Amino acid sequence: MKKIKFRIDGKDCTASKDQNLIEAAEQNGVSIPTLCYFKHLNPLGSCRICTVKNNGRTIAGCTLKVDEGMDIEVNTPELLDLRKAILEMMFVEGNHFCPSCEKSGDCQMQNLGYQTGITHTRFPHLFVDRTIDAIPERIVVNQNRCIKCKRCIEEIKTDDGHRVFNLTNRGNHTAVSVDYKQEAKLSEKQAEHAMQICPTGAILVKGKTFGKPFGDRQFDYSRESENMPLEDIKKHKSTNKKKTKKRVATASLAGCFGCHMSMLDVDLGLLDLIDVVEFNKSPLTDIKEFSERCDIGLIEGGCCNTDNIEVLREFRKHCDILISVGECAIWGGVPAIRNTVPLEDCLKESYIDSITSEANETIIPNHEDLPKILDKVYANHEVVKIDYHIPGCPPNANHIWNVVKNMLFEEEYSITYSEFKYD
Ligand code: FES
Repeated sequence: MKKIKFRIDGKDCTASKDQNLIEAAEQNGVSIPTLCYFKHLNPLGSCRICTVKNNGRTIAGCTLKVDEGMDIEVNTPELLDLRKAILEMMFVEGNHFCPSCEKSGDCQMQNLGYQTGITHTRFPHLFVDRTIDAIPERIVVNQNRCIKCKRCIEEIKTDDGHRVFNLTNRGNHTAVSVDYKQEAKLSEKQAEHAMQICPTGAILVKGKTFGKPFGDRQFDYSRESENMPLEDIKKHKSTNKKKTKKRVATASLAGCFGCHMSMLDVDLGLLDLIDVVEFNKSPLTDIKEFSERCDIGLIEGGCCNTDNIEVLREFRKHCDILISVGECAIWGGVPAIRNTVPLEDCLKESYIDSITSEANETIIPNHEDLPKILDKVYANHEVVKIDYHIPGCPPNANHIWNVVKNMLFEEEYSITYSEFKYD
């Protein structure tokens, strides 16, 4: 095969003429992120995560064959941000509740989130309500997690060559459907293959969903092995500023209190911490009112009722820096599952039709002393200005305090993969 010369981000590269760019780049030590691309399938070009520039023109890299003299851009700030934006759009377009997903740790989209350093999305979550199809014999298809990459459509076929998955509808309503008759012909191995090639948790095999324990999953240690620096890793010069005690306040809104429990997980580190910070209003101290202005406010949980809104506004008023801690604070998290269901149905299910309701129960609590429930769960930045986000469910204790100490004292720090990875 004829060898050609081309450039990636100014670096001279060689490859076989007409070789796929993703593979050619890999051979020359450049990793181009992909989601729908699957080596032995014709490039699908559906996700656009691999977007590069070829001689100044934006194109999906996986659909490109290399040729003599090509000038490819991959890791420019513009393209890094563009890829991140595409991925953020995928996260907000579906319902990706990673902490409760069976594929967590084995999910390519989640891993790409880590690689690109997504801590929050710049677009609002749509909270769509899509079908979970459990009718097939071996598999479950969760449309909330499907990114329509088309891998399953192209790859999964019965022994007699029939497709099992197909696209139905158009535009926003496009969905992957299952041909039940063909699906019933799949062997256990073929069904598992369908689950594995799905880059998210949209295809699961019944009874196999938690097959891989932590430590054995595909992306448990991937950052170390890929040696991919995290975009968010920041190095700051150590300063010799004298440490005077700083004031920290914390609050738990619509969440499970897990982030506060995580803060306490620093264990003996708390002794070091109280040398440099003192707590003001916080459930950790049981101080109910602000007695002084605080340097940092840490907010766990989002806003599901009027009381949450009031507390959050009060924190904004009394804290110099306000930080959303954990997924519920950043975008609603698990409580926001209710955003996919009309409020009335949700209350009915909770108070009237629930399995623990009394027979003939007809009352939905609505006393004037109770905070009014909001139409949906809001992320904190939708209510007040939030200065920083610490992602995770819950974030690791050391990570929370390292970030806080860095902000207060500008100490040198870096985020390790195990600190940043939450699943
Ligand atoms: Fe190229 Fe999806 S990986 S378009």
